[in-house]
Amino acid sequence: MNKNFKNIIKLSANENFYGCSPSAKDAMKKFSWDTIHYYPDLLQQSLKEKLASNFNLSSQNILLGVGAVGIIENIIQFLIKPGEEIITLERSFIAYWQLAGFHHRKFHFAEMSHFTCDINNIFPLVNDKTKAIFICNPNNPTGTIIPHNDLKILLKKIPSQVFVIVDEAYNEYVTDTTYPDSLQLLSEFPNLIILRSLSKIYGLAGLRIGYGIATEKVTTELEKKRLPFSINSIASVAAMASLDDKNFIEECKMKNKTEREFLFCQLKRKGYCTLPSQANFIFLYFQNNNEKEDVFKRLFENSIRVCDLKIFKQDRSLRIAVADRTVNEIIVDSLV
Ligand SMILES: Cc1ncc(COP(=O)(O)O)c(C=O)c1O
Repeated sequence: MNKNFKNIIKLSANENFYGCSPSAKDAMKKFSWDTIHYYPDLLQQSLKEKLASNFNLSSQNILLGVGAVGIIENIIQFLIKPGEEIITLERSFIAYWQLAGFHHRKFHFAEMSHFTCDINNIFPLVNDKTKAIFICNPNNPTGTIIPHNDLKILLKKIPSQVFVIVDEAYNEYVTDTTYPDSLQLLSEFPNLIILRSLSKIYGLAGLRIGYGIATEKVTTELEKKRLPFSINSIASVAAMASLDDKNFIEECKMKNKTEREFLFCQLKRKGYCTLPSQANFIFLYFQNNNEKEDVFKRLFENSIRVCDLKIFKQDRSLRIAVADRTVNEIIVDSLV
């Protein structure tokens, strides 16, 4: 495998295949570089207000972070004390348990049923030390969702001092109408924290900016502990412009829906074990690791780089970000 790196099509990190909004690029080009020696805005009030107005909330309900992972780390560090515990799902986003490990917080994995979150497997893990439950929705890497009613039951049943963090990094791609209205749930359950990312459909992964939505009590606690000036000036400018470009987001969502369906159907037709996804990636599951490695190699030989989930400590599985029709056809044609 000695591919020229420049020719590799990277489908391993669920970035937006179509890039970022042209308005964000324009805003960055127009940025006044003569001001770059100044620190960025400490509070990022304008950005918070823009985000809040999208949700009919107050800027006091908005959290910012160096990507959604920055907020995940702040939650683990500052809301969960040493000795308190975290629950997450067995096949979910790596950051929850990895960051819990870095900060010496104990974590438990709830088993999934058919690669989907089953809230009934969470309840037996809740004890008096439990402080947070991380739910990735849609789930990375399976692309499956927890529906509104299940999330509501979970919130009703667990003790109110336990935070439920729903990571909605891929929410803009969802087309399933049973997907939770988490903002509505927030008004009923103050222990809910919603995380969003500007790295996925907004295409700003390289700028490292994400946000969260929570009660004022939670945001005050977390915002005062966020690393000062951690939201850089360029990220802020690009985020403001991206949030205004609703057409770009809608266009990416619709293209992704069509291509996600195409890839899913074609892979299924070829006999691969895959799942209907609500995100911008497709999960592939194999009988054994040899089969998986064979598929990984075939794709790589055709210049397609996908994610081997062994980096998430998950065996027999791959994750492929949805691309456009030309590239998706290369994927399908590469496989027997
Ligand atoms: C579920 C989930 N949450 C958060 C992130 C990271 O988001 P950010 O780039 O905003 O830190 C990812 C990235 O892959 C993800 O899959």
